[in-house]
Amino acid sequence: MPSNTTTSSATPRDTMTHLDFFKKLKRLNPLEPSLGILGFFLVTVLLICCFFYLDYRSVTRGLRHHGISWSGLVVTSSSELTGGDSGRLGFLDKGGDWCDIFDGNWVWDDNYPLYQSQDCSFIDAGFRCLENGRPDSFYTKWRWQPKYCNLPRFDARLMLEKLRNRRLVFVGDSVGRNQWESLLCMLATAVPDNSSIYEVNGNPITKHRGFLAFMFKDYNCTLEYYRAPFLVVQGRPPAGAPKEVKLTLRVDTLDWTSPKWKDADVLVLNSGHWWNHEKTIRGVCWDMHLPIELEVPTYWRKFFGVCSVASEMACGIVDLSFYAVLHVGKGKDRNQGCYFQEGEKVRMEMSVETAYGRSIETLIDWLHTEVNMSKTRVFFRTYAPVHFRGGDWKTGGSCHLEKLPDLGSVLVSPDYRFKLFFDVLSKHSNESQVMNLHLLNVTSMSARRKDGHASLYYLGPGSGPASLHRQDCSHWCLPGVPDSWNELLYTLLLKQELVHAQDLTESSQAPSVTA
Ligand SMILES: *[C@@H]1O[C@H](CO)[C@@H](O)[C@H](O)[C@H]1NC(C)=O
Ligand SMILES: *[C@@H]1O[C@H](CO)[C@@H](O)[C@H](O)[C@H]1NC(C)=O
Ligand SMILES: *[C@@H]1O[C@H](CO)[C@@H](O)[C@H](O)[C@H]1NC(C)=O
Ligand SMILES: *[C@@H]1O[C@H](CO)[C@@H](O)[C@H](O)[C@H]1NC(C)=O
Ligand SMILES: *[C@@H]1O[C@H](CO)[C@@H](O)[C@H](O)[C@H]1NC(C)=O
Repeated sequence: MPSNTTTSSATPRDTMTHLDFFKKLKRLNPLEPSLGILGFFLVTVLLICCFFYLDYRSVTRGLRHHGISWSGLVVTSSSELTGGDSGRLGFLDKGGDWCDIFDGNWVWDDNYPLYQSQDCSFIDAGFRCLENGRPDSFYTKWRWQPKYCNLPRFDARLMLEKLRNRRLVFVGDSVGRNQWESLLCMLATAVPDNSSIYEVNGNPITKHRGFLAFMFKDYNCTLEYYRAPFLVVQGRPPAGAPKEVKLTLRVDTLDWTSPKWKDADVLVLNSGHWWNHEKTIRGVCWDMHLPIELEVPTYWRKFFGVCSVASEMACGIVDLSFYAVLHVGKGKDRNQGCYFQEGEKVRMEMSVETAYGRSIETLIDWLHTEVNMSKTRVFFRTYAPVHFRGGDWKTGGSCHLEKLPDLGSVLVSPDYRFKLFFDVLSKHSNESQVMNLHLLNVTSMSARRKDGHASLYYLGPGSGPASLHRQDCSHWCLPGVPDSWNELLYTLLLKQELVHAQDLTESSQAPSVTA
């Protein structure tokens, strides 16, 4: 039972220390009689303390049984998940619509995680934190609880049923890939025979490719991932561009792969991590034109000193370019790099902020002209915060000591990408494609999960922890935080279906008003 976990896990350790103490006293007694008296005195004190301690515990336990939160830790019973005694309405119930499912808290739940990484072959080595040696597993035990309503319990079979004959596509950066792999594992729990889940082109998940599509054969459903960290085109500069321009981001053109995903039934987009000065103007945006699988292990050897042939698999992981930039950032010519392009013009002076805003506009235009919004449900996942402390990803920032989420409310200092994104959206808010764009507003909930990152444990099983100065506080361990994003995606998909069904019955019942 969840309500007992925290207390019972503490008990064995306490008992051990008490026993140890008694043993020590016993050993002392025969040697030194005067110590026996002291020992008696100490035992008495100890017993009195024990009484107080036990009493205190029974009080706190009593509090918990009544569902009162204690020291910020809200412990709920699993029955509350689907409504029940908390008095909260289910989000899927009638009248649950007004509830903001992104406003809430993380609560301890012993029924989590939803899967184990060793049972799921679809996870990059870099996300397998427990297998990679992470000693604590608390981070797998938190469930997202909206403040004013309850979420339905995730039902993999039901979700697969809803996705029958459909395509669910993730497009974005490696955090998008993080989320895609999480959903693969969540859905795979409902499929007993894992050989009925396969990559349609036979590609292994551990080698980076631009795109991967996993088929759930029994449901004729594919779960796909397209790598497009900026969503817009990265390419070679136009003829006659200044020589420091190595690559450009065409902020007015959606990624070349977009024709492949515009017809998806569900489209989950994200961008954000890559929109910073370092990864654009300073660092050449490497990732597309190079034979990454060959190049990157060399960088790893150079900068991490750990990429042996044996762990080559571990080296072909995660966001290769995330690490590749380490190398490029040390280029001789500091102005050399990736610039922004509109039409045939390279905009040498365009700021990253302006360019990001333009790319969101391009996305909105594209939705309008290319996507059938009555067929395709489009979600945009907002920026997932990083948690580097005392530096950033290349100056020794760390997060490996974080074992707990921030419980209670946290002020999230708004990221410029977040604000810009909403500025652009609100400018277009009266347009139909924007009204049909759904948000996975995960920024604030994820900001509280400083404990959820891979930190030192991204090198792959058997490789041991990474150097303290090379931490990954950007990607998330699996199982972990992205599972909760997917539970919210699941919830929103179910909700939309319910609303759609309701509309249909209402319109068939209502007398026709059109002439
Ligand atoms: C996103 O969620 C946070 C937390 O609930 C909220 O403060 C913010 O207004 C939300 N933004 C949008 C656009 O829904
Ligand atoms: C199926 O599961 C087994 C055991 O978990 C694993 O060894 C195997 O690699 C999996 N196969 C596929 C295709 O995922
Ligand atoms: C499988 O799903 C696709 C759409 O994703 C559809 O075009 C195709 O007809 C389906 N195949 C079967 C056998 O139902
Ligand atoms: C858009 O999708 C809907 C639902 O699948 C379909 O009925 C409609 O014909 C499509 N419209 C276009 C222009 O393809
Ligand atoms: C949206 O509103 C702006 C002015 O606020 C207007 O110029 C534009 O035509 C509107 N667009 C639509 C599709 O209604």
